[in-house]
Amino acid sequence: MVTATAPGKIILFGEHAVVYGQPAIAAPVSQVRARADVAPYDGKGILLRAPDLGVEGWLDDAPPDDPLAAPLRYLLAMAPGKADRSFVVTVTSELPIASGLGSGAAIATAVIRAAGQYLGLEAELTPEVISALVYEVEKLHHGTPSGIDNTVIAFEQPVYFRRQTPENLIEPFAIGRPLTLLIADTGVRSNTRDVVGDVRRQWQADPQTFNAIFEACGILADRARVAIADGDLALVGQLMNANQRELERMTVSSPELERLVGAALQAGATGAKLSGGGRGGNMLALVEPGIVAQVQRALDRAGAVRVLRTTIG
Ligand code: PMV
Repeated sequence: MVTATAPGKIILFGEHAVVYGQPAIAAPVSQVRARADVAPYDGKGILLRAPDLGVEGWLDDAPPDDPLAAPLRYLLAMAPGKADRSFVVTVTSELPIASGLGSGAAIATAVIRAAGQYLGLEAELTPEVISALVYEVEKLHHGTPSGIDNTVIAFEQPVYFRRQTPENLIEPFAIGRPLTLLIADTGVRSNTRDVVGDVRRQWQADPQTFNAIFEACGILADRARVAIADGDLALVGQLMNANQRELERMTVSSPELERLVGAALQAGATGAKLSGGGRGGNMLALVEPGIVAQVQRALDRAGAVRVLRTTIG
């Protein structure tokens, strides 16, 4: 049997605006992962299983946008000679779906890595190639993905990212002092495709306002990159708060997110904002290491269904 895993991700600055060509900053969350196991199978065909979701079916029968089938189909298209192999793919994930942690991209990455190894395609499957295949899968789920999720997850590196042609800008960024973050889940599931589509409709209806919001987010991401390099965490926190206000103006925040953001700030967090598609899912709080427990308690009391701690840098 072959096993591969892939991490979740958080967006520190610039979600949504990144779809419109503004820079964004994101990082992997390595302690929560999606996992794919590939084992030989005696019969004929490729069987897909996600026991946690009660899903089991044949690749050949799956609809075109099936989240387990799509990554395999894109992988097999790279190696047509191997498409008649029989095997079973089993997917499990510690990442809640539709929660802003990149669960779809993590599952696709794990499936492509595990099946790729099983089929002897490791040499071809560089992080660049995996990221490009996962981007194709993301298009099925998100409509117009920026490419940031697949990049952070396939490379498993913090990145400063800008969607652009002919090639996206993907740069590592300097970290002057480690960032301690709490990631708190509202428990509300939200479909990124719907939220991204709704932002697009609002942008089309009022391009002037929305272009100004997106530009403000881009400026915040650029200032944050410098503040993170300088280790100026107080400024990073202020910039997160400012980014949250822009996301509220985009209407992608929610009462549950704002409750957690308010609780974290009141408990002494340096800054707090939603992360990912919004209207549910997870929020981030930047905290000094000495007050992690205090902020975590406040988040629990404010209704967080799960709080994770992660450090960047
Ligand atoms: O909700 P998530 O984890 O899939 O994050 C989406 C991030 C967006 O900026 C809203 C969309 C995108 O494609 O970048």
